[in-house]
Amino acid sequence: MQLTNSKKIALLLGATGLVGSALLDELLAHDAYIRVIAPTRRPMHRQHDKLENPVINFDELEEYAGKLPCQDVFIALGTTIKKAGSKEAFRKVDFDYIVKGALVAKTGGANQCLLVSSSGADVESRFFYTSVKGQTEEAIKDLGFWATHIFQPGVLVGNREEFRLGERIGIGVSNLLRRISPEILGDYNPTKVSVLAQKMVDAAQGMEPGVQVHGAMSLLEDKAVSDEDI
Ligand SMILES: NC(=O)c1ccc[n+]([C@@H]2O[C@H](COP(=O)([O-])OP(=O)(O)OC[C@H]3O[C@@H](n4cnc5c(N)ncnc54)[C@H](OP(=O)(O)O)[C@@H]3O)[C@@H](O)[C@H]2O)c1
Repeated sequence: MQLTNSKKIALLLGATGLVGSALLDELLAHDAYIRVIAPTRRPMHRQHDKLENPVINFDELEEYAGKLPCQDVFIALGTTIKKAGSKEAFRKVDFDYIVKGALVAKTGGANQCLLVSSSGADVESRFFYTSVKGQTEEAIKDLGFWATHIFQPGVLVGNREEFRLGERIGIGVSNLLRRISPEILGDYNPTKVSVLAQKMVDAAQGMEPGVQVHGAMSLLEDKAVSDEDI
Protein backbone atom coordinates (compact mmCIF):
# COMPACT_ATOMS: atom_id res chain seq x y z
CA MET A 1 0.00 0.00 0.00
CA GLN A 2 1.33 3.47 -0.94
CA LEU A 3 1.94 6.49 1.25
CA THR A 4 -0.89 8.90 0.64
CA ASN A 5 -2.55 11.71 2.51
CA SER A 6 -6.01 11.48 0.97
CA LYS A 7 -8.60 8.82 0.20
CA LYS A 8 -7.24 6.86 3.11
CA ILE A 9 -8.76 3.96 4.98
CA ALA A 10 -8.53 4.10 8.77
CA LEU A 11 -8.65 1.02 10.93
CA LEU A 12 -9.94 1.89 14.40
CA LEU A 13 -9.63 -0.56 17.30
CA GLY A 14 -11.62 0.32 20.42
CA ALA A 15 -14.32 2.35 18.68
CA THR A 16 -16.89 1.79 21.44
CA GLY A 17 -14.68 3.29 24.18
CA LEU A 18 -14.43 6.81 25.54
CA VAL A 19 -11.46 7.76 23.36
CA GLY A 20 -12.45 5.40 20.52
CA SER A 21 -15.89 6.91 20.05
CA ALA A 22 -14.40 10.43 19.91
CA LEU A 23 -11.88 9.14 17.37
CA LEU A 24 -14.67 7.57 15.35
CA ASP A 25 -16.49 10.91 15.14
CA GLU A 26 -13.28 12.66 14.04
CA LEU A 27 -12.41 10.05 11.43
CA LEU A 28 -15.90 9.90 9.91
CA ALA A 29 -15.95 13.69 9.61
CA HIS A 30 -12.43 13.98 8.15
CA ASP A 31 -12.03 14.44 4.39
CA ALA A 32 -8.79 12.44 4.26
CA TYR A 33 -10.66 9.22 5.02
CA ILE A 34 -12.98 7.51 2.58
CA ARG A 35 -13.55 4.46 4.81
CA VAL A 36 -13.33 3.74 8.50
CA ILE A 37 -13.15 0.08 9.46
CA ALA A 38 -14.00 -0.33 13.14
CA PRO A 39 -14.05 -3.94 14.30
CA THR A 40 -15.76 -4.40 17.65
CA ARG A 41 -16.83 -7.39 19.73
CA ARG A 42 -20.47 -6.21 19.69
CA PRO A 43 -22.29 -4.40 16.87
CA MET A 44 -22.27 -0.61 17.25
CA HIS A 45 -25.66 -0.02 15.61
CA ARG A 46 -24.27 3.12 14.03
CA GLN A 47 -24.97 3.95 10.41
CA HIS A 48 -22.60 6.03 8.29
CA ASP A 49 -21.64 5.79 4.61
CA LYS A 50 -17.94 5.53 5.46
CA LEU A 51 -18.27 3.12 8.36
CA GLU A 52 -17.72 -0.64 8.30
CA ASN A 53 -18.24 -2.40 11.61
CA PRO A 54 -17.22 -6.05 11.43
CA VAL A 55 -18.02 -7.91 14.63
CA ILE A 56 -15.00 -10.00 15.54
CA ASN A 57 -13.61 -12.20 18.28
CA PHE A 58 -10.45 -10.45 19.48
CA ASP A 59 -9.03 -13.79 20.60
CA GLU A 60 -8.84 -14.66 16.91
CA LEU A 61 -7.27 -11.42 15.70
CA GLU A 62 -4.51 -13.28 13.81
CA GLU A 63 -7.13 -14.63 11.41
CA TYR A 64 -7.64 -11.09 10.09
CA ALA A 65 -4.03 -10.69 8.98
CA GLY A 66 -4.07 -9.06 5.53
CA LYS A 67 -7.87 -8.90 5.52
CA LEU A 68 -8.35 -5.40 6.93
CA PRO A 69 -6.83 -3.01 4.37
CA CYS A 70 -5.85 0.39 5.77
CA GLN A 71 -3.23 3.13 5.72
CA ASP A 72 -3.63 4.44 9.26
CA VAL A 73 -4.42 2.35 12.34
CA PHE A 74 -5.76 4.06 15.46
CA ILE A 75 -5.68 1.96 18.63
CA ALA A 76 -7.75 2.95 21.66
CA LEU A 77 -8.27 -0.51 23.13
CA GLY A 78 -7.93 -1.02 26.84
CA THR A 79 -9.51 -2.22 30.03
CA THR A 80 -8.91 -2.03 33.77
CA ILE A 81 -7.78 -4.82 36.08
CA LYS A 82 -11.08 -4.46 37.95
CA LYS A 83 -13.18 -4.74 34.79
CA ALA A 84 -11.09 -7.54 33.26
CA GLY A 85 -11.08 -9.52 36.51
CA SER A 86 -7.36 -10.26 36.78
CA LYS A 87 -3.95 -8.93 35.83
CA GLU A 88 -3.68 -11.63 33.14
CA ALA A 89 -7.02 -10.66 31.60
CA PHE A 90 -5.98 -6.99 31.68
CA ARG A 91 -2.71 -7.78 29.92
CA LYS A 92 -4.54 -9.80 27.27
CA VAL A 93 -6.39 -6.64 26.18
CA ASP A 94 -3.80 -3.95 26.88
CA PHE A 95 -0.86 -5.86 25.43
CA ASP A 96 -1.92 -8.90 23.36
CA TYR A 97 -4.92 -7.42 21.55
CA ILE A 98 -3.15 -4.12 20.92
CA VAL A 99 0.03 -5.66 19.53
CA LYS A 100 -1.81 -8.30 17.50
CA GLY A 101 -4.21 -5.65 16.20
CA ALA A 102 -1.31 -3.46 15.09
CA LEU A 103 0.28 -6.43 13.33
CA VAL A 104 -3.00 -7.21 11.55
CA ALA A 105 -3.10 -3.57 10.40
CA LYS A 106 0.49 -3.75 9.18
CA THR A 107 -0.25 -6.86 7.13
CA GLY A 108 -3.24 -4.94 5.74
CA GLY A 109 -0.90 -2.19 4.52
CA ALA A 110 -0.86 0.30 7.40
CA ASN A 111 2.14 2.57 7.42
CA GLN A 112 1.04 4.80 10.31
CA CYS A 113 0.13 3.57 13.80
CA LEU A 114 -1.44 5.89 16.37
CA LEU A 115 -1.65 4.34 19.80
CA VAL A 116 -3.37 5.55 22.97
CA SER A 117 -1.04 4.56 25.81
CA SER A 118 -0.80 6.33 29.16
CA SER A 119 1.23 8.84 31.11
CA GLY A 120 3.85 7.01 33.15
CA ALA A 121 4.12 4.11 30.67
CA ASP A 122 7.48 2.53 31.36
CA VAL A 123 8.75 -1.02 31.02
CA GLU A 124 10.76 -0.49 34.19
CA SER A 125 7.81 0.79 36.22
CA ARG A 126 7.15 -1.03 39.48
CA PHE A 127 3.43 -0.57 38.88
CA PHE A 128 1.79 -3.33 36.84
CA TYR A 129 -0.45 -0.99 34.79
CA THR A 130 2.29 1.40 33.67
CA SER A 131 4.75 -1.44 33.13
CA VAL A 132 2.30 -3.23 30.78
CA LYS A 133 1.68 0.07 28.99
CA GLY A 134 5.46 0.46 28.57
CA GLN A 135 5.82 -3.09 27.23
CA THR A 136 3.04 -2.42 24.74
CA GLU A 137 4.70 0.78 23.54
CA GLU A 138 8.00 -1.06 22.98
CA ALA A 139 6.30 -3.90 21.10
CA ILE A 140 4.48 -1.40 18.87
CA LYS A 141 7.73 0.46 18.16
CA ASP A 142 9.37 -2.86 17.24
CA LEU A 143 6.76 -3.46 14.54
CA GLY A 144 8.54 -0.75 12.53
CA PHE A 145 5.68 1.24 11.06
CA TRP A 146 6.80 4.06 8.76
CA ALA A 147 5.34 6.40 11.42
CA THR A 148 4.44 5.54 14.99
CA HIS A 149 2.66 8.04 17.23
CA ILE A 150 2.34 7.14 20.88
CA PHE A 151 -0.05 9.26 22.92
CA GLN A 152 0.39 9.31 26.67
CA PRO A 153 -2.69 11.03 28.11
CA GLY A 154 -3.16 11.79 31.76
CA VAL A 155 -6.43 10.91 33.44
CA LEU A 156 -9.12 11.15 30.76
CA VAL A 157 -11.81 13.79 30.97
CA GLY A 158 -14.94 13.02 28.99
CA ASN A 159 -18.53 11.89 29.29
CA ARG A 160 -18.16 8.37 30.64
CA GLU A 161 -21.39 6.75 31.72
CA GLU A 162 -19.62 4.14 33.82
CA PHE A 163 -18.40 5.39 37.25
CA ARG A 164 -14.67 4.80 37.74
CA LEU A 165 -13.53 5.82 41.21
CA GLY A 166 -9.81 5.98 40.36
CA GLU A 167 -10.49 8.22 37.38
CA ARG A 168 -12.69 10.55 39.48
CA ILE A 169 -10.07 10.82 42.21
CA GLY A 170 -7.37 11.46 39.57
CA ILE A 171 -9.40 14.28 38.00
CA GLY A 172 -10.15 15.81 41.42
CA VAL A 173 -6.52 15.79 42.56
CA SER A 174 -5.32 17.07 39.18
CA ASN A 175 -7.80 19.93 39.30
CA LEU A 176 -6.57 20.96 42.73
CA LEU A 177 -2.93 20.97 41.58
CA ARG A 178 -3.74 22.72 38.31
CA ARG A 179 -5.22 25.61 40.23
CA ILE A 180 -1.69 26.24 41.45
CA SER A 181 -0.11 25.69 38.00
CA PRO A 182 -0.46 23.17 35.09
CA GLU A 183 3.37 22.96 35.00
CA ILE A 184 3.32 21.18 38.39
CA LEU A 185 1.52 18.25 36.78
CA GLY A 186 3.60 18.24 33.58
CA ASP A 187 2.88 15.02 31.72
CA TYR A 188 0.34 14.01 34.38
CA ASN A 189 -2.10 16.77 33.43
CA PRO A 190 -5.60 15.45 32.75
CA THR A 191 -6.44 15.04 29.07
CA LYS A 192 -9.70 16.05 27.46
CA VAL A 193 -10.87 13.17 25.28
CA SER A 194 -12.08 15.39 22.41
CA VAL A 195 -8.69 17.15 22.29
CA LEU A 196 -6.82 13.84 22.32
CA ALA A 197 -8.93 12.45 19.45
CA GLN A 198 -8.44 15.58 17.38
CA LYS A 199 -4.67 15.64 17.99
CA MET A 200 -4.41 11.96 17.05
CA VAL A 201 -6.19 12.46 13.74
CA ASP A 202 -4.16 15.63 13.05
CA ALA A 203 -0.92 13.73 13.73
CA ALA A 204 -1.84 11.19 11.07
CA GLN A 205 -2.09 13.98 8.49
CA GLY A 206 1.36 15.35 9.38
CA MET A 207 3.01 12.47 7.52
CA GLU A 208 6.19 12.53 9.59
CA PRO A 209 8.19 9.31 9.67
CA GLY A 210 9.65 7.69 12.78
CA VAL A 211 8.50 7.38 16.36
CA GLN A 212 6.88 10.32 18.10
CA VAL A 213 5.71 10.31 21.69
CA HIS A 214 3.04 12.83 22.67
CA GLY A 215 3.00 13.45 26.42
CA ALA A 216 0.02 14.84 28.32
CA MET A 217 1.57 18.33 28.39
CA SER A 218 1.32 18.39 24.59
CA LEU A 219 -2.29 17.20 24.76
CA LEU A 220 -3.63 20.23 26.58
CA GLU A 221 -6.01 22.40 24.65
CA ASP A 222 -5.17 26.08 24.40
CA LYS A 223 -6.98 26.75 27.65
CA ALA A 224 -6.36 24.19 30.42
CA VAL A 225 -9.00 21.50 30.93
CA SER A 226 -11.59 23.33 32.99
CA ASP A 227 -13.54 22.13 35.96
CA GLU A 228 -16.78 22.37 33.98
CA ASP A 229 -15.44 19.63 31.69
CA ILE A 230 -15.62 16.94 34.35
N1 LIG B 1 -9.17 6.17 31.90
C1 LIG B 1 -8.16 6.98 31.96
O1 LIG B 1 -8.17 7.99 32.68
C2 LIG B 1 -6.92 6.71 31.11
C3 LIG B 1 -5.79 7.50 31.30
C4 LIG B 1 -4.67 7.28 30.49
C5 LIG B 1 -4.71 6.29 29.51
N2 LIG B 1 -5.82 5.52 29.35
C6 LIG B 1 -5.82 4.51 28.29
O2 LIG B 1 -6.50 5.02 27.17
C7 LIG B 1 -7.04 3.94 26.40
C8 LIG B 1 -8.48 4.23 26.07
O3 LIG B 1 -9.19 4.40 27.29
P1 LIG B 1 -10.78 4.53 27.32
O4 LIG B 1 -11.11 5.12 28.65
O5 LIG B 1 -11.27 5.17 26.08
O6 LIG B 1 -11.19 2.99 27.35
P2 LIG B 1 -12.68 2.39 27.41
O7 LIG B 1 -13.69 3.48 27.38
O8 LIG B 1 -12.72 1.41 28.52
O9 LIG B 1 -12.77 1.61 26.00
C9 LIG B 1 -11.92 0.53 25.75
C10 LIG B 1 -12.18 -0.08 24.39
O10 LIG B 1 -11.52 -1.36 24.37
C11 LIG B 1 -12.47 -2.37 24.08
N3 LIG B 1 -12.23 -3.60 24.82
C12 LIG B 1 -12.00 -3.74 26.14
N4 LIG B 1 -11.91 -5.04 26.46
C13 LIG B 1 -12.10 -5.73 25.32
C14 LIG B 1 -12.14 -7.11 24.99
N5 LIG B 1 -11.94 -8.06 25.92
N6 LIG B 1 -12.39 -7.47 23.71
C15 LIG B 1 -12.59 -6.53 22.76
N7 LIG B 1 -12.56 -5.20 22.98
C16 LIG B 1 -12.32 -4.81 24.26
C17 LIG B 1 -13.80 -1.79 24.53
O11 LIG B 1 -14.85 -2.52 23.89
P3 LIG B 1 -16.28 -2.79 24.64
O12 LIG B 1 -17.04 -1.49 24.52
O13 LIG B 1 -16.85 -3.91 23.86
O14 LIG B 1 -15.95 -3.13 26.07
C18 LIG B 1 -13.67 -0.35 24.11
O15 LIG B 1 -13.92 -0.21 22.74
C19 LIG B 1 -6.84 2.68 27.25
O16 LIG B 1 -5.73 1.97 26.74
C20 LIG B 1 -6.53 3.22 28.63
O17 LIG B 1 -5.72 2.36 29.37
C21 LIG B 1 -6.93 5.73 30.12
